[in-house]
Amino acid sequence: MRRLVLTLVFLLSWSLAGAQETDEATGLVIDDGWQLVRIHCGGCHSHALVTGQRADRQTWLDIIRWMQATQNLWQFAPETEAGILDYLSANYPPQPNRRRAPIPPSLMPDPPGPPGPPDRVD
Ligand code: HEC
Repeated sequence: MRRLVLTLVFLLSWSLAGAQETDEATGLVIDDGWQLVRIHCGGCHSHALVTGQRADRQTWLDIIRWMQATQNLWQFAPETEAGILDYLSANYPPQPNRRRAPIPPSLMPDPPGPPGPPDRVD
């Protein structure tokens, strides 16, 4: 019985925590403002470039300003920009542990030996 209860609690918390619906076509999390990002952020590159990025609001803004300054991204009306930034900073915030764990020393190659002649490139 205890086991059953624990399993149910686990399943419930798992489904609540993981209940993030994504749009099949773009991979974007469906949440307030997602349509703005669908419309404005997929014309030049895949939405995957957006969903693969994590940043705080200021850094998202910096990314947008960089694209506006160098990549011909258009200007947004203030409320559109605010909606995009709200959505991005809420759904794609910074994550501390995005790097893989270090490779264990036992799996690393031997350190390089003494320097030899450079490889020939004919
Ligand atoms: C007018 C074209 C255009 C539009 C529209 C556009 N981008 Fe970009 N974006 C680019 C280009 C060009 C790059 C560089 C792509 C590359 O390096 O392959 C880029 C790169 C990025 C990157 C990667 C930045 C990095 O540091 O590697 C992110 C994240 C990004 N865009 C997010 C967005 C978001 C969010 C939007 C909507 C607000 C958006 N883009 C709309 C042109 C655009």
